[in-house]
Amino acid sequence: MLFTKSPGKEFANRFREDIEFIKGWAKMPGAVGAIKPTGKIAARHMASLLPIESGFPVLELGPGTGVITREILKRGLSPEKLVSVEYGREFYDYLIERFPGVNFVHGDAFNLDAALKDIPYNSFCGVIGAVPLLNVPKPLRESIVSESLKRVVPGGPFIQISYGPNPPTKAIAGKYTVEKSDRIFRNIPPAGIWVYRQDHQ
Ligand SMILES: C[S@@+](CC[C@H](N)C(=O)[O-])C[C@H]1O[C@@H](n2cnc3c(N)ncnc32)[C@H](O)[C@@H]1O
Repeated sequence: MLFTKSPGKEFANRFREDIEFIKGWAKMPGAVGAIKPTGKIAARHMASLLPIESGFPVLELGPGTGVITREILKRGLSPEKLVSVEYGREFYDYLIERFPGVNFVHGDAFNLDAALKDIPYNSFCGVIGAVPLLNVPKPLRESIVSESLKRVVPGGPFIQISYGPNPPTKAIAGKYTVEKSDRIFRNIPPAGIWVYRQDHQ
């Protein structure tokens, strides 16, 4: 039988991702939040919500072992057009080896001014967020959404995965709206995908 890609290699990659994830979780459980990387179906769905065809780059926050990174690249985005901010040093070291060409930043997604330095506002077609927000105070949750939306072109999404029944932060009139992506996923733990956009009322 002819295989287009080696199932053994894919399995080995997943296994290594799981190991790296557990190592990262053991070092900083609060920052990693989940016990497993995001499932492939949820990761693929998040990536599918990005308007990549616009030609603008993508910003990712909290790539971990790169499960969502991989799905973003599979959509055809060139690695050079992806900027991805990771706080954990070990994850960062793993990612730069695993995904050559992607602009990984070892930085803090709650301080995008420092992490993105000279990248102007309105530079990205969308932002994918996987930093756990339920562990941080409400003002920080609001700030990461507002600051992320400043970085996207008008109308672009900030797509956030979260492990609760409600959005990690509610809509704020005049600032941003939020809606739940209409699909339900088998994910461990069960996850919701929330899409925030600037509110131009
Ligand atoms: C729940 S894991 C998600 C990892 C991966 N994106 C996935 O979906 O499987 C959260 C990730 O966010 C990173 N993280 C936590 N706080 C962060 C921060 N302030 N800035 C950037 N990354 C952060 C963690 O190190 C970890 O890689």
